[in-house]
Amino acid sequence: MPPLEDKSFTSTPGKFKVERTHAMNRQLHRCFASASTMFLWVIFLIALTASYLSFRRFVDSGSQYFAASWGGFQWEKQVLNSAQAHRSGGLSVLVTGAAGFVGTHVSMALKKRGDGVVGLDNFNNYYDPTLKKARMYLLQDHGVFVVDGDINDQRILAKLFDIVAFSHVMHLAAQAGVRYGMENPHAYIHSNIAGLVTLLEACKSAYPQPSFVWASSSSVYGINEKVPFSESHLTDRPASLYAATKKAGEETTHAYNHIYGLSITALRFFTVYGPWGRPDMAYFSFTRNILQGKPITIYRGKNRTDLARDFTFIDDVVKGCLGALDTAEKSTGSGGKKRGPAQYRIYNLGNTQPVTVPTLVSILEKHLKVKAKKIVVDMPGNGDVPFTHANISLARMELGYKPTTDLQTGLRKFVRWYLSYYGYSHGKPSN
Ligand SMILES: NC(=O)c1ccc[n+]([C@@H]2O[C@H](COP(=O)([O-])OP(=O)(O)OC[C@H]3O[C@@H](n4cnc5c(N)ncnc54)[C@H](O)[C@@H]3O)[C@@H](O)[C@H]2O)c1
Repeated sequence: MPPLEDKSFTSTPGKFKVERTHAMNRQLHRCFASASTMFLWVIFLIALTASYLSFRRFVDSGSQYFAASWGGFQWEKQVLNSAQAHRSGGLSVLVTGAAGFVGTHVSMALKKRGDGVVGLDNFNNYYDPTLKKARMYLLQDHGVFVVDGDINDQRILAKLFDIVAFSHVMHLAAQAGVRYGMENPHAYIHSNIAGLVTLLEACKSAYPQPSFVWASSSSVYGINEKVPFSESHLTDRPASLYAATKKAGEETTHAYNHIYGLSITALRFFTVYGPWGRPDMAYFSFTRNILQGKPITIYRGKNRTDLARDFTFIDDVVKGCLGALDTAEKSTGSGGKKRGPAQYRIYNLGNTQPVTVPTLVSILEKHLKVKAKKIVVDMPGNGDVPFTHANISLARMELGYKPTTDLQTGLRKFVRWYLSYYGYSHGKPSN
């Protein structure tokens, strides 16, 4: 019996050889074919993975880009349009805190007279952000674009200064309020110290360097008892963290003026009130409580003395801000380097007529035609000072500042706005 292997093949040796070679070739071919197929598959998989990864990267960066509240062609167009002045020699102003009370009024006034204005605000929830949004829509209707961003965000600031050559910065963004400092002290450091430095850094590096006008506060006078408060008085005894951060702001801006040639003007506002005001302030919360039939708490100072404030109407403060912007000299620095001495100024913006809190309440009762339920208590040690009273002769002389609205008139305008904004008709909610 032939060996088993021979059974499967012919006895022709040559043919056998050929057949065998073919089979080997086929084997080899199959082998190569599967290796090259595998190789192709590997290449294909690598390519697929690479394209998937780059697609992911694109999607991620794209979603960041689109999810961000700033950046992009459309956004830049809005910023540029808003920054465009519409009068010859018009200013181009970056207003921080533009969705805030004072910021909204200053932005509107600048835009109305033909200056370019870009707003910046982080819409934080220290008080009702819907009020800030409503102010933002008001500004939008008047051609002012408000960027949603934080003054601590270097990238937004760099971008804004990159696309607009701002002539001025009107810096109003801050953590305001005295009592809140005991609840959330870090909010004051974040906005009034760290944010201020980040903004000054952007200004110092900007080309051209803008002139810097910003809101300090009457609170820097602290427990000073000399009246009326004058810019030449000492301000080294703050009564609250808020006051301390505003005082720190005055010193910080001085350093930037000295080192980098930034033109600096600090405005010490005295209890500003009016339409679109701040819900955390007494005149506002008293109005709300009186209308809702809720009691109001009135603080009393030492020896049962009434607290008094130099209430200043918003339109007067706005005129002071515009006066400061118009008289601000140019910064002298360039490329982050000082080229000569630059202007450094501080002004009180008050009304010069302090009014006691009980008088404020009686004016509100008259305008609202409702009696307040009053609870009178001794003032706790929460950072409030017993009185404020501004000497404004410097601002009058150098800024042409001249307040003209008394508390009666100003509160009438505020109450009219309040009733309409919150939907009251004849002293009752209209729905
Ligand atoms: N209203 C007053 O009586 C009074 C008195 C003295 C000083 N001031 C100062 O005037 C300025 C304006 O005050 P206001 O009454 O309009 O207060 P406001 O709280 O209504 O306005 C400040 C705005 O700044 C924004 N903001 C806060 N931190 C920010 C941050 N880190 N980045 C971006 N935006 C931020 C807030 O969202 C707010 O819209 C503040 O600097 C305040 O300290 C006000």
